[in-house]
Amino acid sequence: MADTYILGIESSCDETSAAVVRSGEQVISNVVLSQITTHQPYGGVVPELASREHLRNIVPVVRKALADSGVSFEAVDALAVTQGPGLAGALLVGISYAKTLAWALEKPLVAVNHLEGHIHAVLLEERQKGNHELRFPVLALVVSGGHTHLYLAEVKGTSWTYKNIGHTRDDAAGEAFDKVAKVLGLGYPGGPVIDRLAKHGDPDAVKFGAPQIKHRDRKDHGKPEPDSPRFDFSYSGIKTAVLRHVEANDMQPQVESRRKALASATKPSVEDFLRVTDRKTLDLVASFQSAVVEDLVGKTLAAAREYSVRTLLVSGGVAANSRLRERFAEQAAREGLPVYFPSLRLSTDNAAMIAAAAYPKFLVGDFAGEELSAEASFPLG
Ligand code: KG4
Ligand code: ZN
Repeated sequence: MADTYILGIESSCDETSAAVVRSGEQVISNVVLSQITTHQPYGGVVPELASREHLRNIVPVVRKALADSGVSFEAVDALAVTQGPGLAGALLVGISYAKTLAWALEKPLVAVNHLEGHIHAVLLEERQKGNHELRFPVLALVVSGGHTHLYLAEVKGTSWTYKNIGHTRDDAAGEAFDKVAKVLGLGYPGGPVIDRLAKHGDPDAVKFGAPQIKHRDRKDHGKPEPDSPRFDFSYSGIKTAVLRHVEANDMQPQVESRRKALASATKPSVEDFLRVTDRKTLDLVASFQSAVVEDLVGKTLAAAREYSVRTLLVSGGVAANSRLRERFAEQAAREGLPVYFPSLRLSTDNAAMIAAAAYPKFLVGDFAGEELSAEASFPLG
């Protein structure tokens, strides 16, 4: 079959991204423009600022993705864009631009669910490495700033279908990393800094028990609905436990001075963080990360056993976490279960995953109509 070039566009949160992917298996170009410095002073993503930055950046980002790929606008076979879930205003920038471009170029447009994109980040890179053998059933954990979701994934012909078998009852895992970093004066986003600092702390120093990561799986509450999700996550309790720990141990003055010291640094290095972070905080950070990681790994493997899955995929921003990768690799190996992650670059938001997820839809002519609009809450499956 002839090569297919899809131009993907992603603008669901705080990254403006465009990419060209060949036949769902080769990244030709992938440009990701992060807005982190815009949102950093506010300690989180400000939706209005995100839309404004997307609007400012979308044209140069798409142009650069095309220029890097060496593929002309005319040679692109289709466009793909994230329809949701995400920030409505941010999504609309990508969607409006993609619709206009598709119309002007007379090319089809494929709408993609962002969560499906994260799953295809792994599939894309496995194909790119020459791994075309995927054993089914496949279980995918999508763990990011907005989601902690488990999906059973199947492929019929070339089309993928998903069944949600678990999700978070409250905060997503990435959200917990971000909120805990904020509580500890470590800035935004929290995941990458906690990952790096946790290496210097003792993961067994602070014990977070079952009450902090509560909610028994729904399958344990008598008879579950046959088609309802059965594996739950919950990370708001552990975030509150960290806050209580800070209060109970008089760590607040330390937090304040750290916040002040880091506010003046534009891109603090690990050494900068370590200079202003005491042992008690390092131990707390390591213990928090370990508790979340053990919960994610434990529940995912329990679900894998329950559904007799033969392949695990882990993706989304939190999949960049080094301890999560180590623990999944160790634990899955013990059960003889292959586990695949995207590269660090494709773990967090990017448009290559959107172009890759669009390819099977392109093959069956599943194109978006003129009425395509943003779906801020867009379930998968
Ligand atoms: O997938 P993503 O880029 O955006 C969403 O779709 O949400 O994920 C961003 C999330 C943030 O919460 C960020 O703190 C977290 O991923 N994250 C990490 C790491 N890198 C990013 N969490 C833990 N460890 C990391 N290394
Ligand atoms: Zn994402």
